[in-house]
Amino acid sequence: MNRTKRYFITIFSILFFAMIFFMIHRFFIQDNRDVKKVKNPDDIMVLVNRKHELSPDYVPKDLVKPKVRFSPNMDSEKKMMRKEAANALEDLTKAADRNNIKLYCISGYRSYDTQNNIYQAKVKNAGEKEADKYVALPGKSEHQTGLAMDITNLRGIKGILTEDFGSTKEGKWLKENAYKYGFIIRYPKGKEKITGYCYEPWHVRYVGKNAAKDISERNLVLEEYLSKNNK
Ligand code: DAL
Ligand code: ZN
Repeated sequence: MNRTKRYFITIFSILFFAMIFFMIHRFFIQDNRDVKKVKNPDDIMVLVNRKHELSPDYVPKDLVKPKVRFSPNMDSEKKMMRKEAANALEDLTKAADRNNIKLYCISGYRSYDTQNNIYQAKVKNAGEKEADKYVALPGKSEHQTGLAMDITNLRGIKGILTEDFGSTKEGKWLKENAYKYGFIIRYPKGKEKITGYCYEPWHVRYVGKNAAKDISERNLVLEEYLSKNNK
């Protein structure tokens, strides 16, 4: 190989690896730059998602334990919700009971550390790709706001949560009635690209009665509702 050829191969290699490095760097830095710190964590309408993150030490000040049917062996932290959401959840489950719909609450408030443990456990069990479809990274979960609750039926508490819950009588009742008590199904089918998560018929989020009615009548998700209302 003559000197000129070696020279060109060296230059080409340097440029090639520099380009790869630049692309990887740009991809990760850009992704993190897009994430905003949540400034209104106590707001009932707070937006927490992949792009809006809570501070690790954020803990709602008005957490209480709602009087609802919980899954057995649940730790007490996960039973908590913010007061207003807890009252609304009691109304929702009482209405369900009156209609012979037996709902079980399985996961409400989760601290930053709890969310981290749940995420890591899912990665261990199912791999990172699967974990990312259903479990938020710590700081990016609505459960840390104390405004979300995972709700299922008797079959759901015996196994893991699956999309099938949406077609059970309990899942259908929840979808049709949650808004009357101020809740929305936060990760509906067909909106995965906007919410960033797979369909979760069990995850309800408290937003108050007016917003919940509007969101459900207009078939929106919280991201769409907030951006439309900001215009
Ligand atoms: N399952 C939802 C996305 C969460 O982990 O907060
Ligand atoms: Zn959830």
